[in-house]
Amino acid sequence: MTITINRETKLNALNIETLQEIKSAVTEANADKEVAGIIITGSGLKAFAAGADISEFANFDVKQGTKMSADGHAVMNTVEQSGKPVIAAVNGFALGGGCELAMACHLRIASENAKFGQPEVNLGVPPGYGGTQRLIQLIGKSKAVELLLTGDAIGANEAMEYGLVNDVVPIEDLLPRCIEILNKIAGKSPLAIAKVIKCVNDYYQDGKDGLKTEIEEFGHAFGTSDFKEGTSAFLNKRKATFER
Ligand code: COA
Repeated sequence: MTITINRETKLNALNIETLQEIKSAVTEANADKEVAGIIITGSGLKAFAAGADISEFANFDVKQGTKMSADGHAVMNTVEQSGKPVIAAVNGFALGGGCELAMACHLRIASENAKFGQPEVNLGVPPGYGGTQRLIQLIGKSKAVELLLTGDAIGANEAMEYGLVNDVVPIEDLLPRCIEILNKIAGKSPLAIAKVIKCVNDYYQDGKDGLKTEIEEFGHAFGTSDFKEGTSAFLNKRKATFER
């Protein structure tokens, strides 16, 4: 499933309605047996998403700001906890909430014109959709703090150098490259894929022990038809076919 943020004239700025639609679409994709993976991208050739919609929140008070952040976190968590792989196809500006959305995805493929940054300090706020945490997780504290404090944007190649993106391609190759990766993953055990995502997420979850999760998920896998199919296919020298 491809989810396209469709507010091109506003550089795909993420208003509250759009964020909730992304959350619903990811939830829907997870419930749909036909869907093997999800691509999130922006409409047009200029922006993935240029941040939360500043015109919408400019007059918010403390209560509304707190709710905005909590609701945004819930959207990002839904993306990150999707049992089906989510790839951000970053086709231009990924700033503020746009960068945070890309970071909540499991993989990020950038077009050569992509730009990443957390410019919230220019607006009098810190990032509010998980940016302070996920940027550190992805690129390490030193560079993350520099980007968070300066608000500087970096280009696709620099993002690749820091490990923020998995690949950089010409814009015309962006969706084909994402589909190529998803097709590869689609041939694997869907149950094992979901388990990998859960174990990786638990590395960062407060109060969770990822190693313990791994023991549980590994053991649980032995009771699944994917395990029977994967192992018997190997032993019978044939290609495994997993049910969705
Ligand atoms: N929220 C609301 N509207 C936004 C937006 C945002 N985050 N980012 C861009 N837009 C709107 C602009 O207001 C403009 O709308 P208008 O045509 O009705 O005036 C339209 O999108 C095009 O943006 P514009 O600024 O004219 O394009 P540009 O090429 O000159 O600059 C950016 C591009 C990304 C550098 C610039 O739009 C920008 O700095 N955006 C805000 C980035 C930001 O601070 N994000 C974090 C938000 S928490």
